[in-house]
Amino acid sequence: MTSKPSRPSSRPLERTLILVKPDGVARRLVGAILERFEQRGLKIAALKMMNVDAGLAERHYGVHKDRPFYAGLIRFITAGPVVAMVLEGPRVVEVTRKMMGATFGWKAEAGTIRGDHGISNSFNLIHGSDSPESAAKEIALFFQPDEILSYELPGEAWVFDRAEDAGEK
Ligand code: RTP
Ligand code: MG
Repeated sequence: MTSKPSRPSSRPLERTLILVKPDGVARRLVGAILERFEQRGLKIAALKMMNVDAGLAERHYGVHKDRPFYAGLIRFITAGPVVAMVLEGPRVVEVTRKMMGATFGWKAEAGTIRGDHGISNSFNLIHGSDSPESAAKEIALFFQPDEILSYELPGEAWVFDRAEDAGEK
């Protein structure tokens, strides 16, 4: 058992972009999905409901533009409002990708967001950045810098264990 972390780290927390996709909003799963992230201890640095227009959809999913599912994906993500958020935490990209589960709902492990709430290939409820580099690009597409808040949560030192001497395992 390590002692209470007294020195907060000066290292910035890793960030990721999460979208609750139009099917998640339409199926009234916004609260259930947000609750999972809060319960895990992740910090909400930005949060808003918005429509994704075709231009933003194409910039966000441009990496898939030659794939057969691309046109359907653009139609899907622009079909209704999404809830966009920036989450922060140690290794938040890896942690949230695991919480989301595999891309196709029918393949996603039970216990994951997609595995507990979906069965479809395309309508899979949630987007999460797949690397810290993608996260930085995607966050800049969806949020202005002044929409992303820096603040400290009570008990954060316990949840994040970021003392400089905590070490890496
Ligand atoms: P996302 O980018 O939305 O977080 O999803 P992902 O990394 O798990 O999957 P990715 O390969 O990046 O695919 C992006 C989204 O395209 C739709 N898709 N449909 N019908 C299909 O074969 C198919 N394949 C992908 C999904 O909505 C997927 O999340
Ligand atoms: Mg992806």
